[in-house]
Amino acid sequence: METLEIRKALLSWYDRSKRALPWRGTHDPYEVWVSEVMLQQTRTETVERYYGRFLEKYPNINRLADSSEQDVLKLWEGLGYYRRARALRQGAKEVAAFYGGIIPDSYEGLLKLSGIGEYTAGAIASIAYGEPVPAVDGNAVRVFSRLSGYTDCVDTAQGKRVLQQTAAELLDPLRPGDFNQAVMDLGSGICTPKQPACMECPLRVLCACGDMLRAEQLPQKKEKKKQTIEVWDVLLIRQGNRIAVHQRKEKLLADLWVFPMEKHSGHQPAAEGILTCADAGTAKHVFSHIIWEMHLWCLTVTPEFDLLPQWKLVTVEEMEALPFPSAMRAARTEARKLMANP
Ligand code: ADE
Repeated sequence: METLEIRKALLSWYDRSKRALPWRGTHDPYEVWVSEVMLQQTRTETVERYYGRFLEKYPNINRLADSSEQDVLKLWEGLGYYRRARALRQGAKEVAAFYGGIIPDSYEGLLKLSGIGEYTAGAIASIAYGEPVPAVDGNAVRVFSRLSGYTDCVDTAQGKRVLQQTAAELLDPLRPGDFNQAVMDLGSGICTPKQPACMECPLRVLCACGDMLRAEQLPQKKEKKKQTIEVWDVLLIRQGNRIAVHQRKEKLLADLWVFPMEKHSGHQPAAEGILTCADAGTAKHVFSHIIWEMHLWCLTVTPEFDLLPQWKLVTVEEMEALPFPSAMRAARTEARKLMANP
C-alpha cells in the first residue's frame, strides 16, 4: 500500500476536520486512560456527558485508587458495560500499590494492568507518550480492512493479526497518537458500517474499495450470536416507607442494584401479605446478547410479608444513592411514584 500517501492524506484531513472532544487536549496518561475506557463500546456523545464529571470527582489516579466501588459505579450509572469501571478502578489500585502512583509509560508496561488490553494500551501509549504503537478497535478494523481490501474473516486470530500488522505498518511514527485518533474519527464519521461516505473520504483514491457498495461488504465477520429473550416480573415492593432492592451477583450487571426480579409467571403476583398489587406496565432493555422484557408490578405489603434474605429494604433517598443499570430506568420511575404515595 502507499503508506506515505495514506499517512499524509489522513493526517492533513485530521488537522482540518478533527472533532473537538474534551479529551483531545490532554496528554495526561490518567485522563487518556479514563477517556479510552469510557469510549469502548460507547458513543462519543454519551461519553462527553460522563468524562468531565468523572475527572471532577476523581481528578487523579490516587483519588480513584482510594474510591469505593459503589461510588464509581454510581458515577458510571447509565454508561453500561460496568465491568470497565471496576477494571479501571482495579487498575488504579494496582498503580497506587505497585508503581508508586505513576502510570507505566510504555505499551508493554500498560498491558500488565487490570482492564488494559492491546487496544487501550496502544491508545494510551500513543496519545499520552507518543509511542509508535497502533490502537485497533472495531472502528479501526473496519477502516483497515476496507483500505487494504482484506476479505477474510476479521474475527479470527489470523484476521486480528493481519489487521494489527496493517495498522502497525501504516501508523505514522512521528504522530502516532494523532494517526490513531484520525482513524477513529474516520471510522465514526466517514467509514461507517452502513452507507460509508466514500465520496468525502480523504483516502478514497488510496482505498482498495473506493466506493460505497464495495466498502459496505467489509469487514467480513462471523455470524452474530442470536440474542435471547428473557421475560421477567419486576417487583416494586413497598413495605411502610421502604422499598425492596437487590444487589446482583450474576455476571451481567454484577454489583449493580435492581428491584426483585422473578421469571415471568403470566399472572399477577400473589402471596400472603400483599395489600395492593397494580400492573405498572412493561419495559424492555436490549443488552448485547440478551433482551429483557419486563412486566412491572407495584406492590404494597404488610410487615409480615415474606421478603427474601437477599433483598434489602431501603428508603427512597437510599435507593437514589445506589447504582442502578439503565435497564431499571422505567422500574425506578415507577418506584419513585409508588414511594411518593402517602
Ligand atoms: N474512540 C475511542 N477512542 C477515541 C478517541 N480518542 N477519540 C475519538 N473516538 C474514540
